[in-house]
Amino acid sequence: MYINFWYPIAAADEVKADAPFRTQVLGLRFVAFRTQDGRAHVLSDVCVHRGGSLGKGWVRDDAVVCPYHGWRFGGDGRCTLIPTLPDEAPPARAKVDSYPVQEKYGIVFAFLGDLPENERPPLHTIGEFGQPGWRANKLTVFEVPAYYERSMENGLDPSHNEFVHPAQGSPNINANLRKKPLDVQEVPWGSQFLVRFENKEAAKGTKALADKDTLVDEVTAGSGHVGPNQMITWIRFSETNMFHQYFFEAPIDDTRTRVFFVNMRTFLLDPQHDDRIGRVNLVVAQEDINILAELDPVQTPDTTTKEVLVPSDRAVVVYRDWLKKFDQRGWRIDTDTLKARKGKVAYAIPCPGRRTSGNWVLDPVPLQKA
Ligand code: FES
Ligand SMILES: [Fe+2]
Repeated sequence: MYINFWYPIAAADEVKADAPFRTQVLGLRFVAFRTQDGRAHVLSDVCVHRGGSLGKGWVRDDAVVCPYHGWRFGGDGRCTLIPTLPDEAPPARAKVDSYPVQEKYGIVFAFLGDLPENERPPLHTIGEFGQPGWRANKLTVFEVPAYYERSMENGLDPSHNEFVHPAQGSPNINANLRKKPLDVQEVPWGSQFLVRFENKEAAKGTKALADKDTLVDEVTAGSGHVGPNQMITWIRFSETNMFHQYFFEAPIDDTRTRVFFVNMRTFLLDPQHDDRIGRVNLVVAQEDINILAELDPVQTPDTTTKEVLVPSDRAVVVYRDWLKKFDQRGWRIDTDTLKARKGKVAYAIPCPGRRTSGNWVLDPVPLQKA
């Protein structure tokens, strides 16, 4: 798990101006709320007075109120009121980390790290969102009982489809391509590939979509990732009929993942098809979850000698190469220390404000040495 990337925090409609939303990402708790101007804010959940959970409090006058002694914190994380000192300005140390927010695609994202704006890795843009000829399904959020890197690698693995997704026609990699390493291309902060799939049982597999143009023997499909936790899958049934699927993944901790899934399509555009397409997608997701939940070890091994990787795993290897680059930047959370000190020390992901002011109460989350 890494600091310094964009993470999905909540569905937009979960973040309200009259009650805080509490969640856990990267093993730590966060609180989100809206001010009256409609802006969403994401703060560290731990009150710096004596450790109350801000997410268990309430929202009043554009501030989240701690339920223990009523200290108020604005969207910028600064304490605006200490009820026992009503006539005094709260001390400068009375502040919690406040993270940069972007609200897009019905999702509230937070940048969980301290990099200044011009150095931040990007939040992936869904260029076709809201464009004519495209339709987005309602946002789907689901939990995976597996480490997020395992989930990401599953999305970057074209050879599992044949076995894990029989109801999709058991798509297998085109026979001429099977033995070759995947042609994986580098993109900014990530990599991607496209490959041809043969559908063993095309008619059966794509029947669930009830669209004659998807009853095809061959499909071009592929996947890519941006950063450690944003995954994209492209499925091209034909020149005109496509799915583009976006998975924004939030590690809850090092054993569980919350996935925010946006499905874009160029066919069956009538809204009446949304529910059915959503159900088909969830069946596929559950097939993956059933496999991921049983992987051993839960986290990928530290060395490739503890697995037998083959050419069709090429995209997984390239993904791991990217993770090593993030390790070298010193962004990997030291989860062993975090867990060993759980209950003794409250940590926060450092926010960009820590680069410009001092006197922060909580320790920054422990990181592995670069
Ligand atoms: S612990 Fe939050 S106000 Fe006291
Ligand atoms: Fe899958």
